[in-house]
Amino acid sequence: MCSELHGFMLIYYTIESLRAKLSEFRAQNQSLGFVPTMGALHQGHLSLIAECQKKTKVSICSIFVNPTQFNNTNDLAKYPVDLERDIDLLKSAGCDILFAPSAAEMYPNGPESNHFDFGKIERVMEGEHRPGHFNGVGTVVGKFFEIIEPDIAFFGEKDFQQLAIINKLVELKNYDVEIAGCPILREPDGLAMSSRNVRLTKEQRKAAPTIFKSLQFAKYNYRSFTPNTLKEKVQELINIEDELNVEHVEIRTADNLSEVVEWPVNTDFRIFVAVFAGEIRLIDNEQLN
Ligand code: PAF
Repeated sequence: MCSELHGFMLIYYTIESLRAKLSEFRAQNQSLGFVPTMGALHQGHLSLIAECQKKTKVSICSIFVNPTQFNNTNDLAKYPVDLERDIDLLKSAGCDILFAPSAAEMYPNGPESNHFDFGKIERVMEGEHRPGHFNGVGTVVGKFFEIIEPDIAFFGEKDFQQLAIINKLVELKNYDVEIAGCPILREPDGLAMSSRNVRLTKEQRKAAPTIFKSLQFAKYNYRSFTPNTLKEKVQELINIEDELNVEHVEIRTADNLSEVVEWPVNTDFRIFVAVFAGEIRLIDNEQLN
């Protein structure tokens, strides 16, 4: 089936049927907003939909667990999927269109990444620890931009490096789309909202807010330390929790993700962490200045 009328939200599974509908909106000069997701939606995603509705006439959300961006097959196999629940959430959020293609629809010749030259921003942090990840993200987001041709696309700042990669993708491919970065949404105890949180055990979930608390410590005390000592301090604070194991802590400038070795003036800088809770990898970041 190409589309279903689901409440007031239209659902498309094929590129062709989605394109046909979008050309109707475009013919009426209606601006298109796009929120790409991998499903397992939470309030963070819904805040992107809300921002999209504020800024554009038609809100389009995609749900696609993109195989080419997973460097770990176990992580892909265990990625939470609950399309029916996601559809209900999107309908209650008033989303206009859901695009939920199959892997064969997105990758008719099999899941293969294109190779991009994102420069040094792809070689650090997530790029360093998840080889091929950003080529996979760039490939799928590029495909979506070419299918949907949105006026504005919305991305969360939890994946701050991904946001930088998307901006670079737009520059490299000359896509005519505005990229909007949206603030991180947090649980009341500070844990950054993430689809992966549902996989945490009770003990891991209890320990996980220590990540945010440590970032807050960094934010309010960074001037008392050198960047290197602060990174060590944050790593120690997180690793105090038996359930948590830091993969990396980095302090980088917000504009081009250069490493901060002494506190800069007149430049925004952020602290970034990746932490394992068992096999679940959580990331977070916070602006320091
Ligand atoms: O941030 C995500 O959920 C994914 O990386 C994205 C942007 C939907 C591409 O698959």
